[in-house]
Amino acid sequence: MSQLPERKIQVLAIETSCDDTSVAIVDSDGVVSICLSADQNLVHAPFGGVVPEIASRNHTMHLLPLIEQALKNSNMDWSKIDAIAVTARPGLIGSLMVGVVTAKSLSQVFRKPLIGVNHLEGHILAPFLKDSKHNPVSSFKTPFVSLAVSGGHTSLYFVPEFGKYQVLGTTRDDAAGEAYDKFGQMLGLGFPGGVNVDRRAQQGDSGKYNFPRTLLAEDSLDFSFSGLKSAAARQIRDIPKSELENEMGHLCASFQEAIADVLILKLELAVKFVDQKLSKSNPNIKRLESVSLTGGVAANSRLRARAEEWALKNNLTLAVPPLRYCTDNAAMIGFAGALQLARGFQSDLSLAPMAQSLPGDFVHELV
Ligand code: KG4
Ligand code: ZN
Repeated sequence: MSQLPERKIQVLAIETSCDDTSVAIVDSDGVVSICLSADQNLVHAPFGGVVPEIASRNHTMHLLPLIEQALKNSNMDWSKIDAIAVTARPGLIGSLMVGVVTAKSLSQVFRKPLIGVNHLEGHILAPFLKDSKHNPVSSFKTPFVSLAVSGGHTSLYFVPEFGKYQVLGTTRDDAAGEAYDKFGQMLGLGFPGGVNVDRRAQQGDSGKYNFPRTLLAEDSLDFSFSGLKSAAARQIRDIPKSELENEMGHLCASFQEAIADVLILKLELAVKFVDQKLSKSNPNIKRLESVSLTGGVAANSRLRARAEEWALKNNLTLAVPPLRYCTDNAAMIGFAGALQLARGFQSDLSLAPMAQSLPGDFVHELV
């Protein structure tokens, strides 16, 4: 591995796993100098979802100008960048390809180490990014349980330390964000629907519609949101068109509450599961003290409020990213890359984009 400087490692990071093109400069303490993103919401909106081919073409247009702008706006040049981190998996293969190929070329041209990052590690680390407006909660401690909820993933992780992640449970069908987007689409709320459902829910009564809370088996840490999606579709169909606008707020609030109920319940179950396992294997650790909530759906105002309330009641420290680091961004990828580099890991030119995570990205049987 190339010699690393004594000062903090500065990483230029690239994220192109789905439809957001993002570039950031982040150091190994998680301090973000700059994070610039170009979304493609308007381009994909007419299709009601991300069109992979269009997403990758737009990445090719946005990426290099964003890199130049990030360096310029932060008064950096390549001599101050120690490494290049890029999301290599999981995601849309064509979108990932644009980021990975660009990162490889830049690493060759400027002779910088290259680090391929798993997008989900990025989300797990997002609550711990620092910038002029945000500092992570100081009482947060490892080990912790992380609930990562996004458009493509809904998973619970046990994190004994940064860099080690055990999957405790994951969605068996739709991710929570995907359910939000489909629900938003059924109501004509545009794409992506999550943020608009959140907005319309502010004026609604969450008890008006009783949507299902699918919990699977009693002790299951997995999720399923396809039943909720179908129930919501049936409910919307049963409402006369002329009344739909009046019911919109109530539908959104009821849907949002159903998702929050399931997520908080599973988070609680995961904490209990880990507590039991930890106390058996290590009597010095009495119980978990910290949890985190992350991913695009962690931007949801109701879910944030419910998580805070629950954490307070259970005497747990909760870390949630500010809204700008909930949805896809390169800052979280840069932090993950910087930590990997500090641990002595880097990728070589065989780094390839992959639609799925690699088994080695996660550790098995930690608890
Ligand atoms: O993490 P992210 O940017 O992309 C993936 O990795 O998938 O998450 C995007 C998801 C979308 O489904 C979007 O609708 C959802 O996050 N989202 C929200 C809110 N803001 C974004 N869902 C509910 N409420 C929000 N305020
Ligand atoms: Zn994401």
